[in-house]
Amino acid sequence: MNKKLLIANWKMNPETYHEAESLVNAIIHGIGGPSKRVVICPPFPWVDNFARSHKAVSWGAQDVFWENSGPYTGEVSPRMLKDAGVSYVIIGHSERRKYCGETDAMIHKKVHAALEAGLIPIICVGEWNRTTPSEAKKFIVEQLLKATKGVTNTIIKKTGLIIAYEPVWAISSQKGAEAVTPEYAREMILFIKEMLREKQNIENVVIVYGGSVHSENLAGFLRYNEIGGFLIGGASLIPREMEKMYTMTITNYK
Ligand code: PGA
Repeated sequence: MNKKLLIANWKMNPETYHEAESLVNAIIHGIGGPSKRVVICPPFPWVDNFARSHKAVSWGAQDVFWENSGPYTGEVSPRMLKDAGVSYVIIGHSERRKYCGETDAMIHKKVHAALEAGLIPIICVGEWNRTTPSEAKKFIVEQLLKATKGVTNTIIKKTGLIIAYEPVWAISSQKGAEAVTPEYAREMILFIKEMLREKQNIENVVIVYGGSVHSENLAGFLRYNEIGGFLIGGASLIPREMEKMYTMTITNYK
């Protein structure tokens, strides 16, 4: 059975609820039946309503705070998301690190709060610039060690944990960006798995790749079992793309 996750990171798109609702309906129609491995992460104002009313797919948020209630203006808590029927939460996306000053220490607190509430964190790590694999590895080790400090196999078994390897320079909004080669993604993912096992003593972490994934380059990545799925930005806003990618993950991998 293929278990590859397709995580749609809509970022701050589309502009209206009406458009978002049409997108949700088109994606659900396109995949042709319920599938919990399709995870849609819309903006906060809509995730509650969608998660309550559409059970055919899984729902994710794009961020979360580390407390469950209190004087934290503008924040959204893990328990609120859980209560709405949200299952996943993206934590530490490079755009939040860049535009909102999110630090590894904040990400660490968010990961623990999410896990405690029963949300599956999708922790984003990745080097900012194109560099050598060994430099990239050195960089992401720091991010990984800080984010996953104190996470145990027992917690992972109970809730789950996903790491998204997203080299920032490969994200489609970057000038001239293109996806890394499937071989490079695989090498980094194997490295992350090994690192988590050796340094944090944790296993069974699902590791996905993100960065300019679309239906034209997906097949190469599907060859590798180690790649647990994909975090998809731009292409996830195009229902036909989601449909194609979903079909490919079924037919290419049984
Ligand atoms: P992209 O975005 O698929 O548009 O490159 C991925 C992401 O930033 O999560």
